[in-house]
Amino acid sequence: GAGSGFVVVANRLPVDLERLPDGSTRWKRSPGGLVTALEPVLRSNKGAWVGWAGVPDVDLDPITEDGLDLFPVPLSSEEVADYYEGFSNATLWPLYHDVIVRPVYDRKWWQAYVAVNRRFAEHTAKVAAEGATVWVQDYQLQLVPKMLRMLRPDLTIGFFLHIPFPPVELFMQMPWRTEIVEGLLGADLIGFHLPGGAQNFLYLARRLAGQPTSRGNVGVRSKLGVVQVGFRTVRVGAFPISIDSTQLDEYSRRRSVRERAAKIRAELGNPKNILLGVDRLDYTKGIDIRLAALEEMLAEGQINPEETVMVQLATPSRERVESYIQMRGDIERQVGRINGEYGRVGYPVVHYLHRPIPREELVSFFVAADVMLVTPLRDGMNLVAKEYVACQGGLHGALVLSEFTGAAGELRQAYLCNPHDLESVKDAVTGAINDDRDARRRRMRSMRRQVLTHDVDRWARAFLEALAQDRVAGSALL
Ligand code: G6P
Repeated sequence: GAGSGFVVVANRLPVDLERLPDGSTRWKRSPGGLVTALEPVLRSNKGAWVGWAGVPDVDLDPITEDGLDLFPVPLSSEEVADYYEGFSNATLWPLYHDVIVRPVYDRKWWQAYVAVNRRFAEHTAKVAAEGATVWVQDYQLQLVPKMLRMLRPDLTIGFFLHIPFPPVELFMQMPWRTEIVEGLLGADLIGFHLPGGAQNFLYLARRLAGQPTSRGNVGVRSKLGVVQVGFRTVRVGAFPISIDSTQLDEYSRRRSVRERAAKIRAELGNPKNILLGVDRLDYTKGIDIRLAALEEMLAEGQINPEETVMVQLATPSRERVESYIQMRGDIERQVGRINGEYGRVGYPVVHYLHRPIPREELVSFFVAADVMLVTPLRDGMNLVAKEYVACQGGLHGALVLSEFTGAAGELRQAYLCNPHDLESVKDAVTGAINDDRDARRRRMRSMRRQVLTHDVDRWARAFLEALAQDRVAGSALL
């Protein structure tokens, strides 16, 4: 066929293939912020999506699912172990999140990463129409821009990193640092959430790839840094991602959602305060930190277990990676200890679910929660914080937010805290619970203005317009 004029390439498709016990299969929504953000963008831009279906050893034909054209890329079990669980999630993920967990550097994983990136590039080269725009996503596919450019010089290629880009000193640990920087430089435009990440990358492009960069001033949002790669000009900038806020706001006002929210409160025993955490079960999210803060506040009598409950909804994630297995054990022990110490029969203090939560149920929890706890040690953006704000049309809730999230740059009216400082977390929770109604409403109103005016469509438009300008303006920038 003629191919697609707009192609998104991501490790995962927006849906996962699920194998049911009776041997049949069905599609379910994939976990994580990338899919939350990009799905509405792809719907309004009518493109194709190249990605993995989430299960090993199946070779699927292209399909149209729910109006989206999906092109599955197959991965073997060994590639899932080496490229996905290994290099992507036991090397890059911890390295890019401030080395919270020690990254593992393994040559065999790297080779699998190269091979799988090549396969993604080859699939995309077949799917994209002449002169198409291709948008490559995230840390699993950093070599794809260069590989794809060699196969298809006619394409306009964008890349966006959905996680933090680390400080230079940490990135320098990476044995294959030059290959990764050069892989990314195959793109025409490279996007990060924050100006700091873009600055780090510009510095590394000069230092590792020996590429001249113009003054890498990306401190102002509209300004892009520039790298000259041979005759090509690569631009680098900050594009903070968001959510489909209007749609979520409307959805959260539905009668069925309101009723379910009221029912949740009743089921929890009509407590005065519902504290809520919603995360993939990941060590970057600081779930252990909010539990430790709660435990101390219970011990010190600042929180009364007869008035306050915490709900932690944890989506299973990367369950075969060692650090995730360990952390799950730690968190479940913590939950058990708190309930053992402070719960009553029929009234646990912490309600903990480890399973995917259906969308409508999740939104109902966002509506019901009085205090949302978002306490990552490091997070590129954190869309859960924005989702909570979008669901708080009633203005009664409060957001506790870690300074170490991208979202903290925009949601200045949250109860901000330093997750490395337990006193700071406890103070933020205390403020969120005890501040008077007007103060909470003022804060929430200001955050809603930000989230509702800066939605994911605006993010995508900003990126794609800058990418299209590359094509027309090209080297004229210099
Ligand atoms: C984050 C990453 C995504 C990833 C998602 C879920 O949002 O930025 O690239 O898809 O987590 O993780 P998983 O490993 O299940 O795809």
